[in-house]
Amino acid sequence: MMRLVVVSNRVTMPERGEKVAAGGLAVALRSALEQHGGLWFGWSGATSAEPSSRVEPVRLGKVSYAVVDLSEAERQSYYLGFSNRALWPLMHYRLGLTEFNRSDYAGYLAVNRRFARLLLPLLKPDDVIWIHDYHLIPLAAELRRRGVTNRIGYFHHIPWPSAEVFGALPFSATLISTMTAYDLVGMQTQVDADNLIGGLVALRGARREGDRVRAGPRSTVVQAFPIGIDVEAFRKLAAASVRAVTQPIRATTGPLGGRKLVIGVDRLDYSKGIVQRLEAFGQFLRSHPEHRGNVGLLQIAPPSRSDVPEYAELDRQSDEVAGRLNAALGEFDWTPIRVVKKAYSRSALAGFYRRAQVGLVTPMRDGMNLVAKEYVAAQNPEDPGVLVLSRFAGAAHQLGEALIVNPYDTHEVAEAIRTALAMPKSERVRRFERLYATIASSDIGWWTSRYLAALSGAGAAESAVPPPGTPKPASGARKPAVRQSVRSRPAAEKPAAKGGAKPAGAASGAGFGKKRSDFRQPARAKPLPNAPSPR
Ligand code: F6P
Repeated sequence: MMRLVVVSNRVTMPERGEKVAAGGLAVALRSALEQHGGLWFGWSGATSAEPSSRVEPVRLGKVSYAVVDLSEAERQSYYLGFSNRALWPLMHYRLGLTEFNRSDYAGYLAVNRRFARLLLPLLKPDDVIWIHDYHLIPLAAELRRRGVTNRIGYFHHIPWPSAEVFGALPFSATLISTMTAYDLVGMQTQVDADNLIGGLVALRGARREGDRVRAGPRSTVVQAFPIGIDVEAFRKLAAASVRAVTQPIRATTGPLGGRKLVIGVDRLDYSKGIVQRLEAFGQFLRSHPEHRGNVGLLQIAPPSRSDVPEYAELDRQSDEVAGRLNAALGEFDWTPIRVVKKAYSRSALAGFYRRAQVGLVTPMRDGMNLVAKEYVAAQNPEDPGVLVLSRFAGAAHQLGEALIVNPYDTHEVAEAIRTALAMPKSERVRRFERLYATIASSDIGWWTSRYLAALSGAGAAESAVPPPGTPKPASGARKPAVRQSVRSRPAAEKPAAKGGAKPAGAASGAGFGKKRSDFRQPARAKPLPNAPSPR
């Protein structure tokens, strides 16, 4: 039986009882590992003056955790600097915010090398290695350089921009080349997959053969695997929150009285469009004064990466905008907008979602956005709320029954809020049922099994195909007005087949658990000619 080794920048160990920020990769990875068992390796989230040169895994249940501290200099260069001031804005199409500096890049490469060195002694020949996210792009190349021949997959949780945008990054050709050290690269959407392949072709002269890309002796499969959530668990949490009204819910419903609730839940990040969303809610109240006093926006926004100047600025800006709008539009007994900058437990969040008539998920750009899926999972099937969703979230490629909006258009978002609040129950139920069917048939278990089957199998998943049970787009269904904005977008931006993808018979994870002899072991890889040079 093979073992799964997951590597991610941050590792959250269960005994620490940390509140996991809304949505997020940590929740998804923990459920994948708990299902399959294995090792989770990554940064502890802490810094120490002398980070150790070896790591001892700690076993908790089916999962062993191997966590590494960073030095403060490494945190600055690898995490805050190159990952979050260069790659993050670049990948979210924010070239204007992209800050590149060579010493941060050197620090990023050095931490990837250190991770490879520390991981190496923990690896067994049969391990399947699954690396996550933009912090660790060069990790497979570093492992290959040290002779690792195991199957190595990568999943990119955030968007991947076109070669035109990515190519603006200094050393972009070198960095993108390291992607070819992976056997399988998973992206959230087909647009992201095509962008990466296009980048490899344009910047490295790679050859494309369908969803396979060849550069030198290696070939890498690049496919879309839209990530899901544990729908059933979240549904139960939300239902329980109704029976046992928890303290935070009581605190929210109390002052709201019988008022309606619009909710936003995001890390405090400029990609999430929080300031634009507050402005849109203000616009909604100005355009539709009859709603004043009857509805409030609750924006939960746990602070994130506060050491990065752009995030500190967003923190200030969101307070300023909420304060201005509350002063201009509020009444002595009604505050239209509440921004709460703290993290809540998952069960409290489930309760908030269930209580809210409108889920406002309007990122300017997002890989997937699991909050959109959580909001749907938490709804009361008999009286569901309405999801308003940005066309620039990966989730819009699957959740076409939401009210799809352009977050740059304040008026359009304002009108979608009005439409959602006025929507008759029959239409809310109809939309909810189809959204729920989609998220349930492409949940976290489906995502994990399908990815791992592809990684451990022949190296190619069935192409981006809907999961079993995905409802077909109803050809005769009434088209929601706001959804036109998706339909009229340029072909390249159109969502992939509704519901994502076709049933992968292989998606049962059958390949994961094959005998060692069933695996093709790639020849010992030579260092990539242009791989980032260690130093
Ligand atoms: O997927 C995007 C991501 O960077 C994840 O890696 C992480 O869980 C989340 O955003 C939060 O970011 P951070 O770890 O920088 O707080």
